[in-house]
Amino acid sequence: ENDILGKLPLRGKKVLITAGPTYEAIDPVRFIGNHSSSRMGIELAKAAANLGASVSFILGPSSLKIEHSLIKVINIVSAEEMYKAVVANYTDCDIAIAAAAVADYRPKHISNQKIKKADAAFSIELERTTDILKWMGSKKKSQFLVGFALETENEEENAKKKLKSKNLDLIVLNSLNDEGAGFKGQTNKVTLINHKLETKAFDLKTKSEVAKDIFDEINLLKNG
Ligand code: CTP
Ligand code: CA
Repeated sequence: ENDILGKLPLRGKKVLITAGPTYEAIDPVRFIGNHSSSRMGIELAKAAANLGASVSFILGPSSLKIEHSLIKVINIVSAEEMYKAVVANYTDCDIAIAAAAVADYRPKHISNQKIKKADAAFSIELERTTDILKWMGSKKKSQFLVGFALETENEEENAKKKLKSKNLDLIVLNSLNDEGAGFKGQTNKVTLINHKLETKAFDLKTKSEVAKDIFDEINLLKNG
């Protein structure tokens, strides 16, 4: 019995996590992507597994590896593939955390052949991707739903808007305005905002410490 000291509060619980960037194809050799390292998502998956949860970890293109008996890794490339993987894993999960940096737009047409350059200027028509977290919020039953907000201005105000519009229980505001913080590096400075719009600002910490703070807060909000 591993849980003899009650240290596995998420044992028997299912946690769904999205992480990493998405890549939206332009042609066979090019894509639209972003600088997400997927590290925050990986630390969240590890933290959940260390608390005893079984984790469905939906991961965009990443060079980082994750291996744990309680973590099922589902590798995807595009926002559409991430959306389908979320739909397949959402209904029976207890906690869902959207840590992915999903592309908001994708090329409307994907060229079958490598696009050749010409002398004229060139542009690509883009269309919206599905807002995966918004879909999760609209289908929410007993799930505890956590989102991230990456903001560069009016940070708290924008994060609160996202919390409401996506029907979240908790939002993690990721501050890009602080040295050492952000989605590329090893550390993060976050503010947690719950559904009552109560805010808790944390110091700059490693992403593994931030992941623990997030699960402490989830535990507090779920169990009082
Ligand atoms: N998200 C998602 N699917 C998308 C876009 C975003 O699931 N197509 C999720 C992210 O994983 C994150 C949250 O929504 O948890 C907020 O992402 P963010 O990019 O900060 O906000 P957006 O709603 O996309 O709005 P904008 O980029 O215009 O600020
Ligand atoms: Ca976005």
